[in-house]
Amino acid sequence: MTETPTSMRAVVLDAPGPPEALQIRNVAVPVPKLGQVLIKVEAFGLNRSELHTRVGLAEGVVFPRVLGIEATGVVVDCPGGELERGTQVAAMMGGMGRTFDGGYAEYTCVPVAQTVPFTSDLDWVTLGAVPEMLQTSYGSLTVGLDAQPGQSILIRGGTSSVGMATAVLARRLGMTVFSTTRNSDRADVLREVGVQHPLVDDGDVAAQVRSLIPDGVDTALELVGTPTLPDTLRATRVHGVVCFTGMLSNQWTVRDFYPIEYLPRGVRLTAYGGDASDLPPTVLQEFLDDVSAGRARVPIHRTYRLDEITQAHADLEAGRATGKLVVLP
Ligand SMILES: NC(=O)c1ccc[n+]([C@@H]2O[C@H](COP(=O)([O-])OP(=O)(O)OC[C@H]3O[C@@H](n4cnc5c(N)ncnc54)[C@H](OP(=O)(O)O)[C@@H]3O)[C@@H](O)[C@H]2O)c1
Repeated sequence: MTETPTSMRAVVLDAPGPPEALQIRNVAVPVPKLGQVLIKVEAFGLNRSELHTRVGLAEGVVFPRVLGIEATGVVVDCPGGELERGTQVAAMMGGMGRTFDGGYAEYTCVPVAQTVPFTSDLDWVTLGAVPEMLQTSYGSLTVGLDAQPGQSILIRGGTSSVGMATAVLARRLGMTVFSTTRNSDRADVLREVGVQHPLVDDGDVAAQVRSLIPDGVDTALELVGTPTLPDTLRATRVHGVVCFTGMLSNQWTVRDFYPIEYLPRGVRLTAYGGDASDLPPTVLQEFLDDVSAGRARVPIHRTYRLDEITQAHADLEAGRATGKLVVLP
């Protein structure tokens, strides 16, 4: 491995703004302290969370900031010796790209606890697409929903990258998958990731679900937010579980929440906000091995170079993607 340079290119945001507010600058390569690891970033996926930060919706962000809540690459320095130089790692969450500089760069320095090591011959585009998407999907299915083989699941916001990854995992678990898009010509995109019942979101998905399963689904993953949550709850059976994980609509609060009126009788509402610790290394490794063997697929929409970050964020904001947007720095 070559010497680590002292400066690097990074995407810096000085203050919230349009995609053009993302500036590529030369900055110093961070120097890791004990308990931290310096990673050469080979690829990073884009996330709605970074869109929230860019437009000023995220709390607790200190500017200027290198964005990016995830990155995938290779360890170049780990002073505490927890990870060997050359180890492939995924890094995510824990304040990355919000309270400390994140993955939109050639190098990123994060606490070791925010990393998950793996070994894979897959290309970096695929590896870069997986971590946050898999962690959110896996965490929602396990922590959020306690999903079980043979159960049914409704994924609201199904063409999102998290939605499609959840469909892949749910099918691997042996679940029956209902999944929504607002776009009728995207039904095939959902079928390709294993969805048995693609539904066009007309606002009354509960009626569509109950025409197929009269009692309602066992589990539901809400990714659109509070505008659709009451209907998602109505699509779910008594003692079924709805997990609130995403807010594609950018609306996530319920005003004047009166539980007896808001919640259908007997339907359980949970939520999920993830961390790297929710993605066991074995789960990441097995998923990557399954992708290598053709037993699972990673929904990727498009790849970009670092200097195309403005275009990438514009595409993210416009909702043009069906699958993960990945940048190769
Ligand atoms: N809780 C956590 O730990 C966690 C972690 C990561 C992500 N998330 C959340 O999970 C959600 C999905 O993230 P992602 O990165 O997978 O999204 P994404 O890939 O950018 O999803 C974009 C797609 O969402 C669909 N969508 C449905 N309703 C929408 C609406 N009202 N406004 C805009 N798009 C809508 C659109 O598809 P159609 O046009 O086909 O409907 C659009 O193509 C986000 O809300 C994100 O913040 C949560």
